Amino acid sequence: MKIKLIFILSLTATICIAQRPVSIIPQPVSVQQQPGNFILTGNTAIQYNPQQKDLKKVVDIFNLQIINITGFVLPVNTIKTTSIQLSIEKLATIGDEGYNMNITSKGITIKANTRAGIINGIQSLLQTLPAIRTNVTLEIPCMRITDYPRFKYRGMHLDVSRHFFGPELIKEYIDLIASYKMNVFHWHLVDDQGWRIEIKKYPKLTSIGAWRVDQNDKIWASRPQAKPGEKPIYGGYYTQEQIKEIIAYAAQRNVTIVPEIELPGHVASAIASYPQLSCTQQLQLPLTGGNYTGMSSNYCAGNDSVFSFLENVLTEVINLFPSQYIHIGGDEVDKTPWKKCTKCQARIKNEGLKNEEELQSYFIKRIEKFVTAKKRKIIGWDEILEGGLAPTATVMSWRGEAGGIEAAKMKHDVIMTPGKPVYFDHYQAGPEGEPIAIGGMNTLKNVYDYEPVPAELNAEEAKYVLGAQANLWTEYITTAEHVEYMILPRMPALAEVVWSPRENRNWQSFNERLQNHFRAYGQKGLRYCPGNYTVSIKPVAQNGKLLVTLSSEIMNSEIVYSTDGTEPTLNSNRYTAPVEINSSVLLKTSSLLNGRIMGVQAARQSFVMHRGIGKNVTYLNPVSRYYMADGPNSLTDGVRGTNAVGKYWHGFSAKDMIAIIDLGETKTIQSIALGCLQNYNDWIFLPQSVKFEISVNGTDFEEIQTVSNLISINEKNAQFDFKTSFPAKGAKFIRVTAKNNVCPPGHSGEGKPGWIFADEIIVE
Ligand code: ACM
Ligand code: ZN
Repeated sequence: MKIKLIFILSLTATICIAQRPVSIIPQPVSVQQQPGNFILTGNTAIQYNPQQKDLKKVVDIFNLQIINITGFVLPVNTIKTTSIQLSIEKLATIGDEGYNMNITSKGITIKANTRAGIINGIQSLLQTLPAIRTNVTLEIPCMRITDYPRFKYRGMHLDVSRHFFGPELIKEYIDLIASYKMNVFHWHLVDDQGWRIEIKKYPKLTSIGAWRVDQNDKIWASRPQAKPGEKPIYGGYYTQEQIKEIIAYAAQRNVTIVPEIELPGHVASAIASYPQLSCTQQLQLPLTGGNYTGMSSNYCAGNDSVFSFLENVLTEVINLFPSQYIHIGGDEVDKTPWKKCTKCQARIKNEGLKNEEELQSYFIKRIEKFVTAKKRKIIGWDEILEGGLAPTATVMSWRGEAGGIEAAKMKHDVIMTPGKPVYFDHYQAGPEGEPIAIGGMNTLKNVYDYEPVPAELNAEEAKYVLGAQANLWTEYITTAEHVEYMILPRMPALAEVVWSPRENRNWQSFNERLQNHFRAYGQKGLRYCPGNYTVSIKPVAQNGKLLVTLSSEIMNSEIVYSTDGTEPTLNSNRYTAPVEINSSVLLKTSSLLNGRIMGVQAARQSFVMHRGIGKNVTYLNPVSRYYMADGPNSLTDGVRGTNAVGKYWHGFSAKDMIAIIDLGETKTIQSIALGCLQNYNDWIFLPQSVKFEISVNGTDFEEIQTVSNLISINEKNAQFDFKTSFPAKGAKFIRVTAKNNVCPPGHSGEGKPGWIFADEIIVE
């Protein structure tokens, strides 16, 4: 007997040498790997206390997942050679969703305070197993895990209005959410282009509001509004039966569904169904794309029957969805129709409201009262702050973090979902070669580096940040594969942000673990993006030298580059250390994986060498904190901006740009230039004029020249270098004053100050 035991122990020790690293995402609070493996076989039983009835369904789902990868059904609550024990107990420190998992060669135990914790433990366990059916031995490394989430709200949103996705995709989305221990699915069921939830009392919402004229052959933003007589045949909706089934499906996976019933704007689909809900009460078809001209998109805020309608709709919604939260939208309301509507104006007068912002607030508060009376809570997009926040509202901060910060300081709960970096409808790579997206770049690393608690909040205020969420708007997304592509792997990155302790976050480790998940996506036929293969180009200008660092998010990729204007190839320079730029060049660079160039176009950046490189710049008026380019010395970093509002522009709002360069010593110079951008639609205009001055002591300046702008302010897009050349002079300081312009007549900001965007002060 004794001999046998020693033999087994030594066998375990041997196995331990071959032990695989585990790649659980999100990274658990604590993982202690131990020698040995657990081997899962058909002789492994699942055991739980049948009195813990909550666990019955959990076990059934777990067993189904095991069948998929092993082909065998694990016996439940029988004595077998090894076991997986699930047990709900009273445990300190791990909270409502945490779990303790202990894996030894004899068995696995998962203990938690709740069913949710057990489900989360099972998700970790499943990530240690193969993704698909296999005949290999199912070895799970021995380890002890203690794990619990950092935030209690860990959400993923999906817009099913702009394009409708059937129940199968919704379940797949919920499976993916659950597999990364996210716990909220925010279902955006209502918007201008389609009403997607059956409401028994108002059948036209789905018989009319769920269908639009098919214009999928046209770009979203430039679709003409459908004409009367055209057949609305494109769309779909969920019946209440389907919704009930999906809610139950999600609940079994510890995912709560928060339904969003948009109001008072973004409801052209409801108005197409029931025109009397709008201010104009005119007939219209559901919108086909992003063109709103002439269409009603708001409910009338002065009409009491609108509130009866909404209360009836919300009653059905509340009866369906058990979620504590009901999302009521509140974003992007164009108040113009309310300004022109006698009913809305009468409401403003009778309620003693100041303006249409307060009318919106009145609208939300009235709905809030109704929802609260039904023992639920509202969430609204951050516009609900305008005109006064409803007393119990939770704010979803999407236009950056400012709304979230303001609400948290007012002691309101907040969910962070800022466009940068958690709008997953934005590009994650390219953009050349990527499926068309709505614009902007939110890469995998941007998401991974996101911190949901803004530095502006103190510890007490930070408690109001319940968590974060990524949003997937689907104007440009029409298929399940495309949905997968936009969330994989950015969702796992966000999952780690909202689950793992901040100090456990480690990009290198995440990227290594992700490689196993990529393999699993490939095996399961899920479409995913490998990360941002577009090389990131970071210049550092110091002491007159210009060095450029190149990096890619792709694990194990190499980087090639050229500086002679040619496209990089497999034979181009390999990047090994920062590249020194000694002359004015165009640098082009690509990442290489498995011997292939990634992406269809190399990243590119032009550099200009000059005598001001790396010198310190100070500003009399501050640079916008949103357009800081590389920081204060962006105007002397040798980096030229492209003809678009990109990252290498320094922005100055409403005031003149007055920049002073300190050359460090008196130098002989003979020309100075300032590079500027005009982008009419973004309120960016070339300065009226640029004055160039020089000084040897920093106090007494001599004007060299004031160069006027000769390009029309109505030009949509222009890039121009204001330049002065002069007989050589000695200078230690250079002062450049660019005079701000105002938006011209006919511009949407007519008479208001514009922006100056500058990229470089070039000194020769
Ligand atoms: C939003 O993106 N309009 C909430
Ligand atoms: Zn009205």
